[in-house]
Amino acid sequence: MISQQIQTAAYLFASILFILSLGGLSSQESAKRGVFFGIVGMIIAILSTMLGEGVQGYVYIIVAIAIASAIGIIVARKVEMTSMPQLVAILHSFVGLAAVLVGFGSYLDPETHTLVGAEHSIHLVEVYIGVFIGAITFTGSIIAWGKLQGTIASKPLAYKGRHAVNLTLMLVVLVLGVMFAMKPGIEGITELYIMTAIAAFIGVMLVMAIGGADMPVVVSMLNSYSGWAASAAGFMLGNDLLIVTGALVGSSGAILSIIMCDAMNRSFLSVIFGGFGESSSGSSVAMEGEVTAATHEEVAAMLKEARSVVIVPGYGMAVAKAQYPIRDMVEMLRKAGKNVRFAIHPVAGRLPGHMNVLLAEANVPYDIVMEMDEINPDLPSTDVVMVIGANDIVNPGAQEDASSPIYGMPVIEVWKSEKVIVMKRSMAAGYAGVENPLFYKDNTDMLYGDAKDSVDKINAFLK
Ligand code: TAP
Repeated sequence: MISQQIQTAAYLFASILFILSLGGLSSQESAKRGVFFGIVGMIIAILSTMLGEGVQGYVYIIVAIAIASAIGIIVARKVEMTSMPQLVAILHSFVGLAAVLVGFGSYLDPETHTLVGAEHSIHLVEVYIGVFIGAITFTGSIIAWGKLQGTIASKPLAYKGRHAVNLTLMLVVLVLGVMFAMKPGIEGITELYIMTAIAAFIGVMLVMAIGGADMPVVVSMLNSYSGWAASAAGFMLGNDLLIVTGALVGSSGAILSIIMCDAMNRSFLSVIFGGFGESSSGSSVAMEGEVTAATHEEVAAMLKEARSVVIVPGYGMAVAKAQYPIRDMVEMLRKAGKNVRFAIHPVAGRLPGHMNVLLAEANVPYDIVMEMDEINPDLPSTDVVMVIGANDIVNPGAQEDASSPIYGMPVIEVWKSEKVIVMKRSMAAGYAGVENPLFYKDNTDMLYGDAKDSVDKINAFLK
């Protein structure tokens, strides 16, 4: 058992470690250190909470931690990098559910019934808001999981007057909240139940209304919501560390959402209220031009002649695990004196930083990995661009076709280069389900097949 003062000091120390952890995660070089700080902070947090005053039932706690850790280790070891977003989404749903359960538990807890006056009112507001955010996070994250996993269609489900319905529901939640706060003891439980059901419904509708291309923003928004839900749980439990940690996750998630919104050219407010980009579900413009294909040998010959090469990786590179042969290809080209760089779109793949992680895993030097805004001005003077398993992020329709669902999203302007090679298995659309006019451009050649297989074959010719 440790004293209150020691616990507070431990919480403070853990909070500092969490802040250092977030700071470390902001760059690839320091990410490992960031994760380490996070682990140490979490161990300190758990131990100092368990050893704090009034904690009982150690056997239950230890058994629960052991079971959860075993599940966590198995899941983390098994999960494919490409399925990471689904895992993140489902973990967010757990935080939401935890906040709902803590809310109900705290409301029903006989100890809280002795609170009076302002303290009692504040407690009820904490419970109400905590359960509300928790329920939205819970169901919204489950729908996000389904959309990312492909069990729910990524097409936006939107009906007319949906904003009015959401607004009315919010008003009902407000009125219920006032009724809830005025009832003594646990007499407001019916209002709490009804509000939870409404919040759960709002969570479903908010995410169902969002289309495939806008999912990155939703994932980071739910990340932020889960932080606020945890923070609300911290208020209910009177746990300072949970409040701080939740606020860190909530605000860093919100900042990430703003960055994502910028990357997608979407307005932040329209994301919070859900269902932006619902107006069109496909482009109405017919594709013009002819699709031409190249062989591996031809592509190798183009690379041998090129002076500057830019590689644009996307989700398909992750699926094919092509980053390793790509690293070998880059090494060979650089040894031959060519200027080779990577162009990374902020929402390439299925996870913020997805491509950076994969390239770092394959030991690609950081200094040749460029962001979209850095590389776009250089593309008109680039000889060959290799698009490897990317699609939506190089779609010229985002600039040229006002009827496209991704219209306005900044893209990597690969078509401005001398020659574009698109490596994918077929003519299939990307995650947003939109046709890509890039494939029909005169300076584009398709190289069909699995990305890893294709790069291996090109490498054989380069050697
Ligand atoms: P996508 O638009 O999804 O295109 C990936 C392409 O890879 C597909 O068209 C597919 O074509 C090809 N592919 C799949 N497996 C392959 C393999 N084994 N070998 C070669 N090619 C393969 O990917 P993107 O360009 O990276 O864009 C990302 C999209 O995901 C955006 O719409 C973005 O909004 C969305 N999204 C992003 C995130 C984050 S945070 N990054 C989160 C959720 C959603 P084939 O089937 O013809 O091979």
